[in-house]
Parts: sequence; C-alpha cells; structure tokens
Amino acid sequence: MEVVILAGPAEVGAHTAALIARRSAASPEMVLGIATGSSPMGTYRELARLRAQGTVDFDHMRCFALDEYVGLPRQHPASYGVVVAREVTTALGLEPANVSTPDGSAADLHQACRDYEASLTAAGGVDLQILGIGRNGHIGFNEPMSSLASRTRIKRLSAQTRADNARFFPPGESVPTHCITQGLGTIMEAREIVLVAQGEAKAKALAAAIEGPVASACPASLLQFHPHVTMVLDEAAASQLTLTDHYRSDEESTPCFAGRPL
Ligand code: GLP
Repeated sequence: MEVVILAGPAEVGAHTAALIARRSAASPEMVLGIATGSSPMGTYRELARLRAQGTVDFDHMRCFALDEYVGLPRQHPASYGVVVAREVTTALGLEPANVSTPDGSAADLHQACRDYEASLTAAGGVDLQILGIGRNGHIGFNEPMSSLASRTRIKRLSAQTRADNARFFPPGESVPTHCITQGLGTIMEAREIVLVAQGEAKAKALAAAIEGPVASACPASLLQFHPHVTMVLDEAAASQLTLTDHYRSDEESTPCFAGRPL
C-alpha cells in the first residue's frame, strides 16, 4: 500500500486526476470504478479541467459506480445515478451508455444486484477503482461488519452514514434506509485502487484502515490485502497516522509503485 500525504483537498484532486489521466492515456478503453460522496469531486473537476484543456479525452472510457440508494425515484437529486450523470458522464464527456450505476428502483432488487455483477464481468472487470471512505470506515456502502467476501447486494445503511449523508438531501427529507452496493469482494477484484480522503473527520477511520488490523469492523482495512492500492490523503485526513515519516520518505525516494512509475 502506498500512502501519499498532500497539503490539502486541491492537491489530492490534482494528484488523483493526474494518475487517472495517465492510466487513461495508456489505456483509453479502461474501466474506471467511480465513487460518489464529496471526496472524489475535486478529482472529477480536475479531470474535467484537463479535458477542457485538450490534455486528455475519455471518449472510450467505461465507468461503473459503486452504489445507489434503494427506493429513490431515478431523477431524485440525491440519487447517485443523477450525481454520476452530472459530475462524471456530462463533465467528462462520456458516452452515457458507457456509464453504469446499480438500479436502486428495480422491481427485483436481488436480480438487479446479480445483473450488476454480470455487467462488471462482461466489461472485463475494473482497471482502476476510485474510493472514498466513510467516517466509520465504510467503502462503497459496505458498512462495518460487512462480509469481507461480499458481492453486490442490498445493505442497510448505518445511522451514522444516514446522518452524514443527510446534507445531500432536501431539508426534511429522510435518507433511504437501504442501498445496493458492490461488495468488498467485488471491489477487491479491481486491478488497482486509489482511495481519496480529505479532512479531519476521516482521520480515525484512515488510521484504522491503514495501520490497524484487517477486520470487518473497519471495511477499508481489507485494502491491506490488495496488491496495488494508493491512499491519497490530505494532511488533516492523515493526522492520526503514526508512520507518517515512513510514508513521506517513501514519496521522496520511491516515486513509483512495485517498480512501475506512478
Ligand atoms: C458515501 C458513499 C461512499 C463514500 C463515503 C464518504 O456514503 N457511499 O462511496 O466514499 O460515503 O462520503 P464523503 O466523501 O461524502 O465523505
């Protein structure tokens, strides 16, 4: 696991966008796994800026979102389908047919989960998965005590996650109780994973994920088992890590991962 600590959110977005742009230039038909929530938005905006400059294009890129609320109307402003369409599909000039989000309003939700897994497999799997992290250590919507081998399925959201995400909903409207999310086993099949996090509110979860034991109590800790993970953090998000000298010296002396330039 590579841990990159940068000054603030702008640097996190620029660093992660540059990494995605490099991967996309090398492999224009790459499959990008996308997270929602506020954490990766700076990255998507920076990618949109690079595209507007003519530095990169994403004409052939395919994307799969991690998760979706269950039971929201498709056009609800807080649905991840709507957020992804605005912040990724439109902003990066992607073909709408190349962008998939789980169907949280399907009549048969279990079938929708199986279909989503099948579409990931048919696309050849995810080349690069972008993740955020919840304050309780969740990735996607895999709350604490999720099975470390789980696949795309229906999950109940924790009270903390529902409270944290209330800011994305119109006043007075409650956050859905359930979601569809890629499982931890599904996420771990991505060939490369980059987790982005900013702010002190994430510091405790990140310390548990990066330096704690691998445990379903902190789902993001499972990333310790993945062969190619980069954590891109700002100073505040990294503030409860204890091995920061080691991570920083790594950055100075080894600007590559497993022998390959980053
Ligand atoms: C959300 C999403 C996750 C996201 C996390 C953190 O609920 N399902 O994919 O990474 O929680 O959200 P934020 O980035 O807004 O803090």
